[in-house]
Amino acid sequence: MTAAARAARHETPYGAFQLNCYPARANERLVAWCSADTLLLEETHRRGILGSGILVVNDIYGALCVALEPHALWTDSALAVLALRHNERANRRTQTRIVWSTEVPPAAPELVVLRIPKQRPLFEYQLSRLARLLPEQTTVLAAGMDKHLSPHTAAILERYIGPAQRHRGQHKARLFSAIRDERSAPEYTGIATYHSEALSAELCGLANVFSREKLDMGTRFLLEQLHTLAPAETLIDLACGNGILGLVALRQGVASNIAFCDESAMAVRSASLNASRIFPQQARNVSFLQGDGLLEYREKPAQIILCNPPFHLQHTVDDFAGRHLLQQCSQHLQSGGRLYLVANRHLDYLPTLRRTFDRVEKFASNAQFNIVLAQKS
Ligand SMILES: C[S@@+](CC[C@H](N)C(=O)[O-])C[C@H]1O[C@@H](n2cnc3c(N)ncnc32)[C@H](O)[C@@H]1O
Repeated sequence: MTAAARAARHETPYGAFQLNCYPARANERLVAWCSADTLLLEETHRRGILGSGILVVNDIYGALCVALEPHALWTDSALAVLALRHNERANRRTQTRIVWSTEVPPAAPELVVLRIPKQRPLFEYQLSRLARLLPEQTTVLAAGMDKHLSPHTAAILERYIGPAQRHRGQHKARLFSAIRDERSAPEYTGIATYHSEALSAELCGLANVFSREKLDMGTRFLLEQLHTLAPAETLIDLACGNGILGLVALRQGVASNIAFCDESAMAVRSASLNASRIFPQQARNVSFLQGDGLLEYREKPAQIILCNPPFHLQHTVDDFAGRHLLQQCSQHLQSGGRLYLVANRHLDYLPTLRRTFDRVEKFASNAQFNIVLAQKS
């Protein structure tokens, strides 16, 4: 975190904590908690259950875990874990055990405290897994912001967990609870596939993966340009999702070694599943990294980076997510290295790129998207 980043004080029934968002920026516009977190903390406190009996799901910046010190956090997001680690250190709280969304959470908790994700497939997948894990009578407390909730939230909870209640709302957030009953819950994997013409293969995406049911239009436009790129040895598919950009680059001989990077555990797992199924002989030519962009990237600098950057920070539309990622690129490119970035025409990443690259130019455009080429001399 930068020194300029401002932490804010989060008052909870468990004490007051200084919390910061991650990635942090000077003059932060967001606070690191919301009224859905407040509802969950108040209700958990009212029930008097100790942190050691609690499984937290989808904490975003650590507001729940820092207060509760739970048994574990089940999450898809490396950014959420980085936020949590910063906030635990800042408040001298115990490190929460992390269980990635692609793993099964640890043995039966007494209480589940869940932030309802915006992505319904992820929500249903998590409930379907929890239903198999929870003993009868275990309560799931769930809350979300009204604007992200489906009108069917209580019904969805009831379908997987058991009798559900819609509780009070507060500051545009709503609390729900469900009690696990004896019924067997439906199995829901959340996996979706589509056929990629460029790969002549099916691509799969786990429940929380971007564009897992169909090719994104910006991605399609970048794919259409790949055959014009001078081939290289090493390429990074940055913010890889299901791995489509890197896999097509491998198929077309744009590069022979590809690193796939994403902050989402499900994205990285999807890219890895797709690579091993489509290119079973090339296991030594592909690598996978879950983290905040290239912060933990330890390979030698690459010759090409392809990127269709994120435009959300957790639940909020915010081009800072993309700018934060692009600031990291130049130091992981060899001299002469090239970054190809596709973005909606209304998003202007040129000033960010000009700060770290020697040459930045428009490489291609259509009615909706620009592709920018940034080069390191
Ligand atoms: C617009 S999607 C592109 C996915 C894929 N490349 C495609 O074209 O279909 C952006 C991706 O960025 C990932 N992402 C967001 N913030 C990130 C970060 N700080 N580091 C790495 N990946 C990130 C998201 O999980 C998402 O998969």
